[in-house]
Amino acid sequence: MICRGPECGDHRGSAPLFEQFRAALVRHGLANDAEVAWQSCFGRCTQGPNVLVREIVDSAAPTLGSGFATAPGPRGVTALYNRIDATRIDRVITEHVMAGKVVRDFIEPTGILGSYLVGSKQKDSKQ
Ligand code: FES
Repeated sequence: MICRGPECGDHRGSAPLFEQFRAALVRHGLANDAEVAWQSCFGRCTQGPNVLVREIVDSAAPTLGSGFATAPGPRGVTALYNRIDATRIDRVITEHVMAGKVVRDFIEPTGILGSYLVGSKQKDSKQ
């Protein structure tokens, strides 16, 4: 699920990301086993675009407190990835969707401390 709220969608290119994920699923032979969907917002706009990967279950997964996430499926492999762009799609698909392993490199800490650390990291990487 890819967020498309005004911040990520309009400013950070969620629409092209959506199509790139769909094309990558086809390229990896998963067109009939996985789907790409929209989520209005995950409440993590400063770290977007964000992509939630979870199992598709027959019945609706129970909603957690915020309404922005769902409980893990039967295999328990659910992750919200941050700052996803075209260069990160193949790892999400091959490592998480295909192999069931969370790509921890693409998950940032939450909250004020997380934003501070992420902001510092970005600033440093441009120097
Ligand atoms: S629009 Fe992407 S997390 Fe809010």
